[in-house]
Amino acid sequence: MAQENSHQQRDRVRERFTRTAEVFSSFVLTTRTADAELLVEMAAPRGGECVLDVACGPGTFALQFAPRVQTAVGLDVTPAILAQARAAAVAAGASNLFFVNGDSAALPFAAGTFDIVCCGYSLHHMSDAAAALREFARVVRRGGRVAVADMVVAPPGSFAVNNAIEQARDSSHVRTLLPDEFPSMVEAAGLRVSECRTTVSPRSFKSWMSVGGWKLGEETYEATRRLMAQSIEGDTSGFHPLLAEDDSGDIHFQQTTLFIVAEKP
Ligand SMILES: C[S@@+](CC[C@H](N)C(=O)[O-])C[C@H]1O[C@@H](n2cnc3c(N)ncnc32)[C@H](O)[C@@H]1O
Repeated sequence: MAQENSHQQRDRVRERFTRTAEVFSSFVLTTRTADAELLVEMAAPRGGECVLDVACGPGTFALQFAPRVQTAVGLDVTPAILAQARAAAVAAGASNLFFVNGDSAALPFAAGTFDIVCCGYSLHHMSDAAAALREFARVVRRGGRVAVADMVVAPPGSFAVNNAIEQARDSSHVRTLLPDEFPSMVEAAGLRVSECRTTVSPRSFKSWMSVGGWKLGEETYEATRRLMAQSIEGDTSGFHPLLAEDDSGDIHFQQTTLFIVAEKP
């Protein structure tokens, strides 16, 4: 039963990131450079490492690691997004960056293969994030580092309201973690957390929906907008949403991200 759920989840992820491969890749490759630089800085490579970027998308994090390590490998479950990643690596001249199609639930590598394993903005798409973190811990060597970043539900947001909005927009969204449970889950995977940092990024609802593949007037767009608008009073989603002051109908909100680096003892 659990395996059937994870197969269905993999299909939902592939459908979403195949449908939006171009718009999503273009968005993250132009807006997440600072996030990727922050995670690289926290993981502190010295130059000789072999790095794995799990759920790499178009190579957002792998592309920033590549010039600072010996070898970088990006793994993703969606072939269409890997095509974007390969094109981005060629454009960047990253000849030490390779890509593999695979699932974070069963990484196709032996224990202790990597010096650093990173994962950006993807645990919330995994049917069992705790098990994925255990996989990251398995394939990193002792003394190596696991560097993960993902959105969290910011106070005073409610877990249920926040995730209902995310799932209305994206059926491949499983769950955004709470700020306290994320580091606990990393530790439960057998890793020792050495540093946590939080960032807040401004977002526009219209742009967020466009990156999700939805246009104004479509049912998914309108249903998600209703939920986001309902969460303005009392900030029940934790997105700190505010109606735009012009007559665009847009909603400005904030995405809170937790960056964690942990060592494998
Ligand atoms: C929100 S994107 C993040 C991409 C990139 N890391 C970034 O931050 O820009 C999520 C990515 O995770 C991939 N993904 C989701 N579940 C996965 C899984 N179980 N195994 C491997 N990749 C997965 C999707 O195909 C997609 O490319």
